[in-house]
Amino acid sequence: MKRILFVDDEPSVLQGLQRMLRGQRQEWEMEFAPNGEAALRLLEQHPVDVVVSDMRMPGMDGAKLLSEVTRRYPQTVRIILSGQTDKEAILRSVGPAHQFLAKPCDPDLLKETVARACALRQLLHSEHLKGLVSQVRSLPSLPHLYVQIQEELQSPNASLQRVGQIISQDIGMTAKVLQLVNSAFFGIQRRITQPAQAVALLGLETVNAVVLSVKLFSSFDQALMGRAHLTTLWEHSMATARLAKRITLAEPDGPRLANYAFMGGLLHDAGKLVLATDLATAYREALALAEREQLADWVAEQRVLGATHAEVGAYLLGLWGLPDPIVEAVAFHHHPDECAGRAFSALTAVHVANALDQESRHTADAPARPYLCADYVAALGLTDRLPAWREMVGVAVEQTSVP
Ligand SMILES: [Fe+2]
Ligand SMILES: [Fe+2]
Repeated sequence: MKRILFVDDEPSVLQGLQRMLRGQRQEWEMEFAPNGEAALRLLEQHPVDVVVSDMRMPGMDGAKLLSEVTRRYPQTVRIILSGQTDKEAILRSVGPAHQFLAKPCDPDLLKETVARACALRQLLHSEHLKGLVSQVRSLPSLPHLYVQIQEELQSPNASLQRVGQIISQDIGMTAKVLQLVNSAFFGIQRRITQPAQAVALLGLETVNAVVLSVKLFSSFDQALMGRAHLTTLWEHSMATARLAKRITLAEPDGPRLANYAFMGGLLHDAGKLVLATDLATAYREALALAEREQLADWVAEQRVLGATHAEVGAYLLGLWGLPDPIVEAVAFHHHPDECAGRAFSALTAVHVANALDQESRHTADAPARPYLCADYVAALGLTDRLPAWREMVGVAVEQTSVP
C-alpha cells in the first residue's frame, strides 16, 4: 500500500481527485489537505510516500510546501499538479518537485507517474547501490552557479535577464557556455556574446543543462580518466543529447519532453566520471573485462562493482534534485524495460540515442555490442520508427572540446 497526500486549496479539485481515483483504493491510501500548513500537520502525524500538490495556493504555495517536504522528508516523492501553464511558474517548482503534471490530469497518467517515481526511488535506495556509493569519498556537489540560478527562479520576480547576469558573474563558466553555444552543435547563425542572449535563444533548461555538464566534466581529474577517454565521452554525451532531443521532437508529446531528453542525454554517462575518479582501480578492471570478453561496459561494471555507471549517475542527479524524467532516463538508459513506464518518454529517447550513437562509433576491429533493447522499443509500438531514428544519427557535428 502506498500512502499519497493530495494538497489543493480548491475543494472541487480535491473532490474530483477523490472521485477519479476511487478505483485506486486497493493500492493507495489517500489523504487530502486543503493547504500547505494542513499538509505539514498531516505529515507530522504520519509520513507518506508521495505528495501531490497544487502550485498556486494562498499562504504557502506548492513550491514552498515541497521545499519544506524536501527538508523534512527527503525520501518522499514530490509531484506538482498545477493549472498554471506559465513557464516561469513551472520552472520555479523544478527544484523541489520530482515531477510536474498539468491539470486536468488524466488518471492513468497520474497512476503511471506515481508508479514510475516510486520504482525509481526503489532503485536509488537499493542496498547494492548504497554499498557502492558509500565507497565514493566525495560526490561532487551541485554546482553553486546552478543553485543560484534555481534560487533566482524561485523568487517571485525572476527573469531570464537576471539569470544571464548570474552566469556572467562566473567568468570561466561564461566563456565555456558561450564557446559551446556558438559551436555548430546548436546551429545558431549569429554570434552570441552574452549569457542573457544564450538564455533567451536556447531557453533556460538548455542553458542549465550546459552549465551542469560543463561543471561536471571540468570538476573531474582529467588525468585519472585519460584525456582521450574523456574526449570520447564528452562527444558521445553531446551527440546523445542532440539525437535524443531530435527523436523526442518527432513524437506527438515531444515539445514537453524535449528538454528532459536533452539534459538526460548530456548527463546519461555522468556516473562514469564518478567511477573513474573515485573507484579508479575497480573501474579500470571493469573496462578491461569488457574489452576481454566483448561485453557492454555496464555489464562488466555490474560484475566487478555490483552496480553500473547508470545507477551511480542517477543517484548523483537524484541527490542534486533534478526532475524525475531526467533521473529516470539516466538510471535505466541501458535497460529501459526495467522501468515501470510503457509510454514514450525522455528515457525512450535517451536509450535509443545512446544505443544508436554507440553503434555508429564501432569499427571493423571493435564490433558493435548489443545496445538497443529491441523488445522495449517493440513493447512501446515504436519499431517502425527505427529507420527514421537511424537516419538522424551521424549528421556531422563540429567537434567541441572538453570543457
Ligand atoms: Fe551508459
Ligand atoms: Fe552512453
